[in-house]
Amino acid sequence: MDIIWHKSSGQFHLFNDKISYIFAVSPSGELTGIYFGKRIHDKADMSYVQIRVGMPQMAVDPDTESYCMEINRQEYPSFGTTDLGTPAFEIEQANGSKVTSFVYKNHKIIKGKNGITGLPATYADKKEALTIEVELVDSVAEMTLILSYTIFESYAAVVRHAKFVNNGNSTVRLTRALSCCLDLADQNYDWMQFSGAWARERIPEVKHISTGTVMIESKRGISSANQNPFVIVKRPGTDEFYGEAFGFSFVYSGNFVALAEGNNHDRLRIMMGINPVHFEWPLEKDQSFETPEVVMAFTADGLNALSQTYHHLFNNNLVRGKWKNRPRPILNNNWEATFMDFTEEKILKLAKKAKEAGVELFVLDDGWFGERNDDTSSLGDWVENKEKLPEGIKGLASKINALGLDFGFWIEPEMVNINSNLYRKHPDWILSVPGRKPSLGRHQLVLDFTRPEVVDAVYDMLFKVLDGTHVRYIKWDMNRTLTEVYSCAASPEMQGTVYHKYIMGVYSLYERLIAAFPEILFESCSSGGSRFDAGMLYYAPQAWCSDNTDAIDRIGIQYGSSYGYPLVSIGAHVSAVPNQQTGRSVSIKTRANVAYFGTFGYELDLNELSDSEFQEVKKQVAFMKENRELLQFGNFYRLLSPFQNKQTAWMVVSEDKKKAIVGFYCLKANVCALPGFLRLAGLDPDMKYQMEGKTYYGDELMNIGIMLAEFYKSDFSISEDYASFVTVIKAD
Ligand code: GLA
Repeated sequence: MDIIWHKSSGQFHLFNDKISYIFAVSPSGELTGIYFGKRIHDKADMSYVQIRVGMPQMAVDPDTESYCMEINRQEYPSFGTTDLGTPAFEIEQANGSKVTSFVYKNHKIIKGKNGITGLPATYADKKEALTIEVELVDSVAEMTLILSYTIFESYAAVVRHAKFVNNGNSTVRLTRALSCCLDLADQNYDWMQFSGAWARERIPEVKHISTGTVMIESKRGISSANQNPFVIVKRPGTDEFYGEAFGFSFVYSGNFVALAEGNNHDRLRIMMGINPVHFEWPLEKDQSFETPEVVMAFTADGLNALSQTYHHLFNNNLVRGKWKNRPRPILNNNWEATFMDFTEEKILKLAKKAKEAGVELFVLDDGWFGERNDDTSSLGDWVENKEKLPEGIKGLASKINALGLDFGFWIEPEMVNINSNLYRKHPDWILSVPGRKPSLGRHQLVLDFTRPEVVDAVYDMLFKVLDGTHVRYIKWDMNRTLTEVYSCAASPEMQGTVYHKYIMGVYSLYERLIAAFPEILFESCSSGGSRFDAGMLYYAPQAWCSDNTDAIDRIGIQYGSSYGYPLVSIGAHVSAVPNQQTGRSVSIKTRANVAYFGTFGYELDLNELSDSEFQEVKKQVAFMKENRELLQFGNFYRLLSPFQNKQTAWMVVSEDKKKAIVGFYCLKANVCALPGFLRLAGLDPDMKYQMEGKTYYGDELMNIGIMLAEFYKSDFSISEDYASFVTVIKAD
């Protein structure tokens, strides 16, 4: 890993043994992109890649008549000169002009990586990464722009973000401030996004790129179930095992935009950042603004390799604290078992049975506070409901602990119901426009987290519940999108800052709770998986993946999530049948076979299972305990897509390749079809492995594959609807 600066050509080369990222100072003084991809040799001058031909109707810079930005690749394109593509940023200056031109002034290279105040960010020590901060100035706007790039020793990834500083005396307004731009030299790429809605999150969609713009975004104040802030741009032939692709993951949980813009001269521009819709950030003299960062990864070996880069990078250099790289407790959550209709006695009955099954953590979901018996009341009143819990959370926690289980509970701190003491006392603490009726979502309003006094009040209430109580886990929910985004506490000129300050308020509450209670494992949730993004993982290392707990639907949701997020971050539980969202009935075996490839737990009343099912649950818990390190942190391979096949499969392999676990699922019976072969991946070709009592070479399993007929038993056919198997493969 190194960063080389070639002074004579003004060229920078960031590289490790996997990738090269090269950019240079262009003839106009701005930064131009040279290359991002597989590692190539360093060469002092690659300015030949800049196009210097005149074209009809092209504007050229007055001082450099042969150079036009529009047909060249930009690192962070500005508005108003000769680029004419979509700009990465816009600054409205005192005279009303938005034209800017930032030229290279200086740079510094640091060992490791700096954080970003108030925002989540990847981190690295001095040996793990190098960062270059390039300083550019616009002497007319009197502004400095700092573009920062980090290259890691071990990953095929570069992390980018930008910082704006106002050096002038007049106030400027930042109206667009994306985090990165990657201009590529041709447009023969496919765009892959992860889209959906409540209960069908992160389903991959692929479309071919051409001239014009492909764009996804969120204006919901959360990253959203509808579009995820992670996209892949891949060569059309790229599949899970072969071919080139770039990944872009936004380390941010609020509004975002991601786009690919093909111009008419073969240039493809990919950008990602805070959604400019209703974003306006005034900067007075000496004030600065830093964008969140984007993790840009590259693979030449297919999408599994790209995903593995994100999995390892997030596990090692984004997730922090006690739960970093720690196998997660097996939990039982009462939500689908009781909803809000519970008493302490009922909860203890669930917990006792959970303990008997070998579960480690009991989680009390919504309904423990205020007068909360349905979703019309009490959000905002974080004090225990003594009718349900006579001795409060503390009392319940100690009784659950006495059973030998850890305890955790649910909160939704960003919200308030109209029917709550908090709202009666502070009706102006919500996001809303004076004179307009605020829209309700799930009967609730959004607290104005841009205001420190609001965050303080919520923190104080939660602190009282948590202080001195043995709590090991919190599920932090967020159940509606933001509307009428306006803060009564902000001046008219500051309203464009509210979306961003809101999410910074959320981050600040997380930060304070983590500092006060470092033992707690946070699981983020937003009506299931509506805020599953890299930003959240910095605070909450796992996320409830979806409210859809149907095992068959879950395969697709978890499969889609795995493209950008590590398995250990994917909240996955076994729930009751018929499933509450889909009405489908799937065996307890298949439900567990899906949930193993995530955090694993149960979201049902174990007392209601038959004896034989309960005995099976005990075995499942024991299996997960034995294998969770591998299941949650191993190298994950998608083998057969549930979106293209009637059967689907995935597997994990240990770092030393001595152990692997394969999951195979039949989504739809394939009558009178031969069972066929499932080719595995990631094994050592020369190693001998044991599987189901037989010996195979790694190359045999990867090239011939598992003969699926092996898994036919007298009582079990793998070609039936919803049948599945999970098998462990061990070095001989
Ligand atoms: C959301 C979550 C669920 C559950 C309920 C509680 O819908 O996604 O898992 O916690 O809220 O109200």
